[in-house]
Amino acid sequence: MTEGTPHSEINQSLLKVIRLLVGTVILLVFALIVVGTISIFKPDVSSWFKKSNESIAREAEKKKAFEEWSAANQAKLESATFWHAPELNEFKGDSLKLKQLKYGKELIAHTAKYLGPKGSVMQITNGMNCQNCHLDAGTKPWGNNYASVFSTYPKYRARSGQVENIYKRINDCMERSLNGKALPESGKEMQAIKSYIEYIGSKVPKGSKAKGSGIFELDYLNRAADPSMGAKLYENKCQSCHQPNGEGLMAADQVEYTYPPLWGQHSYNQGAGLFRISRFAGYIKYNMPQGATYEKPQLTDEEAWDIAAFVNSQPRPNKDISKDWPKIEEKPIDHPFGLFSDPYPEQQHKYGPFKPISDYKKKEKENQSKTKS
Ligand code: HEC
Ligand code: HEC
Repeated sequence: MTEGTPHSEINQSLLKVIRLLVGTVILLVFALIVVGTISIFKPDVSSWFKKSNESIAREAEKKKAFEEWSAANQAKLESATFWHAPELNEFKGDSLKLKQLKYGKELIAHTAKYLGPKGSVMQITNGMNCQNCHLDAGTKPWGNNYASVFSTYPKYRARSGQVENIYKRINDCMERSLNGKALPESGKEMQAIKSYIEYIGSKVPKGSKAKGSGIFELDYLNRAADPSMGAKLYENKCQSCHQPNGEGLMAADQVEYTYPPLWGQHSYNQGAGLFRISRFAGYIKYNMPQGATYEKPQLTDEEAWDIAAFVNSQPRPNKDISKDWPKIEEKPIDHPFGLFSDPYPEQQHKYGPFKPISDYKKKEKENQSKTKS
């Protein structure tokens, strides 16, 4: 018995060694098979991860497409509620009046032909058409249309500090947007333009504003608008039509513009509405590049503000506007020339950020009404 014990111990350790050896051989063979398989089939391990990236991207794309689809649908539903101009062929009056309406529309659509530098009636404007800015002869939703002109004029306007009638408002655009001279109020041209504007706005109840009328009010950015970002965007999205020098492109007849100027000698002057960047940004957001609509905008809000900042820092005609905004507390926040009733500098009034100014003005108003009551 005493001899048997070490003997079986040796057997036992031998068995252990054999087991270990067999185990190692099996492991080696297995490893060989794995390495062999990998070297033969060469599966692209990184592609296993790529796949999951792809599916993440696919998910994001699906989500984005859905969001765009629902936004477009919402815009469509909304735009169905916008104002529609009555057609001229719906007019049920005498033919003389109809002739006048047609002439008014023609003057708005092709102003330069009659009143431009080569105009057949007078030569008193820069060569632009009213329609360049008041799209589709002043009928396009959010296209700076005339929907609410007849319903809201005469009205008090802070720029002049006076109650203005439609003649005065039209001549404002003659002297600023068209950088020209005022039309005589009783003349055939002014009368025709006024009649046309009244006719297309005639179904809007007096005193009310139609939906989709004028220029869209964009939210303020949280930062200042950036002219250098705007310059790059201009190059990509605008200059093919409005040209690298911003001065537009004349039609072959050299009378009207095919693509109107955005700056330079023949553009709107510094007293014009579009020279305020909120007006410019709101106008282009749903109208430019040409073909954009409320349902199919082509610019983000940020792009619109940055382009506005760029275009309105380019040279353009001056105008004496020293008598504008006689009450400085009524000056719009983005009017780029002092004096101001707030402590913010001209630079911030031109490019923003506008929120601090608007908050300041709100507070001032609240304080005033408190001290009054
Ligand atoms: C360079 C662009 C431009 C041109 C060209 C232009 N306008 Fe304007 N017009 C504006 C802007 C900007 C406003 C102000 C819109 C706002 O602030 O909501 C405006 C406002 C008006 C308004 C008042 C609209 C309202 O709802 O209160 C009338 C009326 C008007 N223009 C008539 C004309 C006529 C008529 C012509 C041509 C003789 C003309 N405009 C040419 C840019 C232009
Ligand atoms: C495909 C050509 C095209 C492109 C691209 C284009 N526009 Fe225009 N733009 C026009 C035309 C045409 C008009 C005049 C519309 C009319 O008379 O019906 C116009 C009018 C304007 C006006 C008002 C008139 C004026 O001259 O002040 C502004 C402002 C404007 N565009 C800005 C822009 C900006 C900013 C971009 C780039 C984001 C842009 N456009 C891209 C064709 C274009």
